[in-house]
Amino acid sequence: MISRDEQRSLHRDAPLGWVERDARVVWHGFTQMTSYEQNVPVIVERAEGHELIDVDGKRYLDAISSLWVNTLGHRRRELDEALIDQVGKVAHSTMLGNGSRVVVELSEELAPRLPVDEPHLLYASDGAAAVEQALKISFQYWVNSGVEGRTTYLVLGDAYHGDTVGSLSLGAGGFGTDLFDPLRFGVIRAPGYADPLWCDYACAVVRERAASLAAVVIEPLVQAAGGLHVADPADVARLAHACRQAGVLLVADEVATGFGRTGSLFASERCGIRPDLLCLGKGITGGYLPMSVTAASGRVFQAFLGEDLGERTFYHGHSYGGNALAAAVALRHLRLLDELAIVKHVDRAASYLGERLAGLVSLRGVEGVRGVGLIRGVALASSGLPGRRGRLVCAEAVRRGVVLRPLGDVVVIVPPLDVGRAECDRIVDTLISAIEATDPEAANPGGADLEAADPRV
Ligand SMILES: Cc1ncc(COP(=O)(O)O)c(C=O)c1O
Repeated sequence: MISRDEQRSLHRDAPLGWVERDARVVWHGFTQMTSYEQNVPVIVERAEGHELIDVDGKRYLDAISSLWVNTLGHRRRELDEALIDQVGKVAHSTMLGNGSRVVVELSEELAPRLPVDEPHLLYASDGAAAVEQALKISFQYWVNSGVEGRTTYLVLGDAYHGDTVGSLSLGAGGFGTDLFDPLRFGVIRAPGYADPLWCDYACAVVRERAASLAAVVIEPLVQAAGGLHVADPADVARLAHACRQAGVLLVADEVATGFGRTGSLFASERCGIRPDLLCLGKGITGGYLPMSVTAASGRVFQAFLGEDLGERTFYHGHSYGGNALAAAVALRHLRLLDELAIVKHVDRAASYLGERLAGLVSLRGVEGVRGVGLIRGVALASSGLPGRRGRLVCAEAVRRGVVLRPLGDVVVIVPPLDVGRAECDRIVDTLISAIEATDPEAANPGGADLEAADPRV
């Protein structure tokens, strides 16, 4: 097979392709740029509904909802209109010391839906920033309350809360981030949901070390990026109860699970918990614009009230927090979720997708299927370098027109919330053929060579 460099030298005067142009100037997150081009990236130009369309016009079903942010498909008419309407008013104005009409309207509609008592909403742009806010608020809550020594956090194994240094400290590591260990602050870590005894351990820490805990931080119901491990909702409720009894704040990170993903508007509802702080992001704008929010309960918020310019103030805020364009889309999106009865739809779609995926366990090399609602994972047996099998299978699925992305050797399936049965079939059938085509034990696995898997040739 002719190599890329050889191809290029044959066509020395040919204009650079989009992938080459991209690699020259863009640095992609969680991506080794040396092999970026060989791993056949899709360069998206536009989208329609659930499909992304690349620069060559090829269509791909977006089965990871553009990293779990997209809820109702791309170019949704109602959301486009809300955005255009807001552009005609104002795009952005600061939330530091001033307000924004559309943010007030959004907050008034969001607050009653949240599983938080008397919430006050502090906006930011990314999920990690919402988590940072929660950890700083919970820390200062105790300072403002005149309680000393509550300076650490109880978090779980397999947790993922984002990539900023604070959220990274709460997370369990992995994904190549262990080199940052010297930057991480210390936390107390209980086992994750994959351990059946996680809750007993976590509750014992809460009882015994309450006096040193600023907060317990969890992803309620499902640990998403940590491998799609699902908890018994009763265990999550038990931990919340232990926190309440010991007077420890509970932070629910619903950046991944919020806005219907697990079959209820928020996973906290499924678990019957009302956290003191709730972090939301990703789906809040239906996947249109970066927005995140930390919702603090009335009890927490009250602890920050005091004299003007006084020490009780929360001295924190992001330039783009409460962006008006994002707020307008988030408001329309919230109403649309109701109008479309999307939570009911997720339940139906999830049981169909779950049934279809259950069939995969009979395939060679599939170790198990897990997840909840429309956030699912298919665990593959590693072959060679950890993560390589996941990479190959997903590359093959992309070649066949379905965008999938692995977490190590777990293929993640997070379709839009209004996904249909035929699309679930397309995802599962493509995944089956991708697994079979790249089976390392098959005589001549197709697609095993990523260069040969280029969808553009
Ligand atoms: C539970 C959870 N918290 C926080 C984050 C970080 O969000 P962001 O990537 O928007 O910073 C993620 C991202 O996947 C997440 O799954």
